[in-house]
Amino acid sequence: MDKFLVYGNPIAQSKSPAIHQMFATQTEQAIHYEKCLSTKESFVNDVNEFILAGGKGANVTAPFKEQAMAMCDQLTERAKAAGAVNTLVFSAGQIKGDNTDGIGLVNDLISQKVEISNKKVLLMGAGGAARGVILPLLAQNPSQLILVNRTMAKAVTLAKCFDSPNLQVISFADTENHAFDLIINATSASLSAALPALSTNAITAKTVCYDMVYGKQLSPFLLWCQQQGAKQVIDGLGMLINQAAESYFLWRKVKPDCETPLNTLRAELTAAPSKGKS
Ligand code: ATR
Repeated sequence: MDKFLVYGNPIAQSKSPAIHQMFATQTEQAIHYEKCLSTKESFVNDVNEFILAGGKGANVTAPFKEQAMAMCDQLTERAKAAGAVNTLVFSAGQIKGDNTDGIGLVNDLISQKVEISNKKVLLMGAGGAARGVILPLLAQNPSQLILVNRTMAKAVTLAKCFDSPNLQVISFADTENHAFDLIINATSASLSAALPALSTNAITAKTVCYDMVYGKQLSPFLLWCQQQGAKQVIDGLGMLINQAAESYFLWRKVKPDCETPLNTLRAELTAAPSKGKS
């Protein structure tokens, strides 16, 4: 049976094994998928040992996405643009690296009928999570993709990595002069129950608000957006499942359906307290 792993630290909370087993059942395939708690010191060795043991591929989550990228013989354009790898494919003695986080976000938005093309989109954050989704978002041709970050200089540096006239940077103070069709929270603020300093003017009755974080309850950001009258609020559970579906496709050449796993995980989440970010 083909073997797969997800590396992270911490990793106990990972839903990837459950998601991939659901994909395997649905596509009538047999795979073995486990969690691996790694360390910065042991990560490279852990991956090489898994390859020697016949591993076919792996997912990589925090804090190993950059280390994983450095190990790859080949990288996709979206992995290069993300500066990080969340999917490894081991084949013919080579390590191929991809990043499915951005396409996972875009596919989740599409499946939730959220339009990106010709829309004014605000992306909050300038860390790895934000960087990972910029290229796939730009590929959907928003009229504008605007970056905002608490430390504005980081957003300016990030925008310079992408050669697009549609990509701009503003400060949080400037958000009072804009209204957006779609606002995506790629900051880690929700993980510490903090709210980014977004102006209430940024949200209208037409605004869809997305938080990459998911949990039993709406994040503080999504709750606040609801209170401002946002049209729709969406958490990151669908992004998690859609990025996994893209990884599964890279390994198994078959695209699983995301709806049933999403419903199953949503039901589990409402039954037990937890938080996460893909
Ligand atoms: P990740 O890999 O999840 O992106 P990261 O690289 O540490 O994590 O980046 C965290 C992001 O969340 C940064 O953009 C950070 O803003 P700064 O660059 O100013 O530090 C943002 N962030 C974290 N806490 C925040 C808060 N309370 N309000 C606004 N932004 C916050």
